[in-house]
Amino acid sequence: MACAMVFDVEKACGIELFANLHQAANQQKQKLSKNSAYEKNISSISLLQGNFLKIDFSDANLIFINATGFIGPIWHKIQEKLIQLSPGTVIITISKKLNSNDFTLQKTTHIEMSWGIATAYIQQLKSTPT
Ligand SMILES: C[S@@+](CC[C@H](N)C(=O)[O-])C[C@H]1O[C@@H](n2cnc3c(N)ncnc32)[C@H](O)[C@@H]1O
Repeated sequence: MACAMVFDVEKACGIELFANLHQAANQQKQKLSKNSAYEKNISSISLLQGNFLKIDFSDANLIFINATGFIGPIWHKIQEKLIQLSPGTVIITISKKLNSNDFTLQKTTHIEMSWGIATAYIQQLKSTPT
């Protein structure tokens, strides 16, 4: 949502598993739609409730994952899914770096989150999988 507020994106999509959090995101979108400055941008935002492992996001060219709490199989499976995306796709992860040689690390930076300062990794999918 923040990305769609700042940049002129064609499509911005948020995926959340938990119904309450999905609902909270929809409420924020609703609030934003009342601000005329964001009228055009809001139409590009779609919010889906579901498991990102089961949702097709193969059209994405920039992905943000707040990965702090992702460990074990979920983290492994999402990385496997990301490797299948189009070469050049940029993935920003918070707290954890994608640990596959299929990605090139573009930048590491620090950003302020509600719980403190977190590390953000900006990685790009290489053209030829390793
Ligand atoms: C660190 S929180 C990030 C919350 C918020 N989306 C953000 O970026 O600030 C990670 C979120 O991932 C959600 N999540 C965990 N597994 C998921 C899955 N398989 N599919 C979709 N969302 C999932 C959790 O419910 C949790 O809200």
